[in-house]
Amino acid sequence: MINNRKMAWCRAGVLAGLASLVWIASAPEVAGQSGTAPRYTRDGKLLAPVGYETWVFVGSNLGLAYKPDAPAMTAAEGARADKPEFHNVYINPEAYARFRATRQFPDRTVLVMEKFAAAERDTKGVLARGSFNGDRLGMEVAVKNSRRPDGKPTPWAYYDFTDMVPATAFPDDKCEQCHRAHASMDNVWVQFYPTLRKLIR
Ligand code: HEC
Repeated sequence: MINNRKMAWCRAGVLAGLASLVWIASAPEVAGQSGTAPRYTRDGKLLAPVGYETWVFVGSNLGLAYKPDAPAMTAAEGARADKPEFHNVYINPEAYARFRATRQFPDRTVLVMEKFAAAERDTKGVLARGSFNGDRLGMEVAVKNSRRPDGKPTPWAYYDFTDMVPATAFPDDKCEQCHRAHASMDNVWVQFYPTLRKLIR
């Protein structure tokens, strides 16, 4: 027979168990939010995203160069036409999940584009053909945020972390305008990213 005291202990145990389950269930979400949402300094600069290697990989481009009527705006971008680069693009998992469900990029979407030289020679001399991701050349980041801490009204902001950490958003005419005019969905080059492209067919 179970007496009252045992019942009370038992109930306390169940409650403690439930409480820890609730804690376990909510902990990853909290960690995920702080991990992939854009983080800023007090004066509105963007901190470099961390851990994006584990985000959703949307695609890789080799040697894309932009047409002259869409001017290349930084020295690094101008150089792209001469020296092929790999661009590997990642999206934060929360934004990917929302895009999958709604076909829209939510606020706090972060896209990271890591750039590598297209290398052809390996140290062991084993390659006969082809290119691989060689030296890392830098990282550019696009963030959608309708309440930008730098006070600018355009939701999409563009940053270059190659020389600047933390980074200040470029003026709209340097980056945003080309993305808005030519990218296929809400400033994002979905037309070049197979992982996103297949979701809108
Ligand atoms: C003339 C057009 C043009 C301009 C100007 C431009 N971009 Fe882009 N951007 C592109 C194209 C095309 C892609 C497709 C992916 C690639 O280049 O590999 C791209 C992709 C990106 C991506 C990957 C995520 C996305 O939005 O699809 C980032 C981040 C990015 N650009 C940052 C910048 C920054 C920072 C600047 C300004 C310094 C800039 N871009 C200026 C054409 C442009």
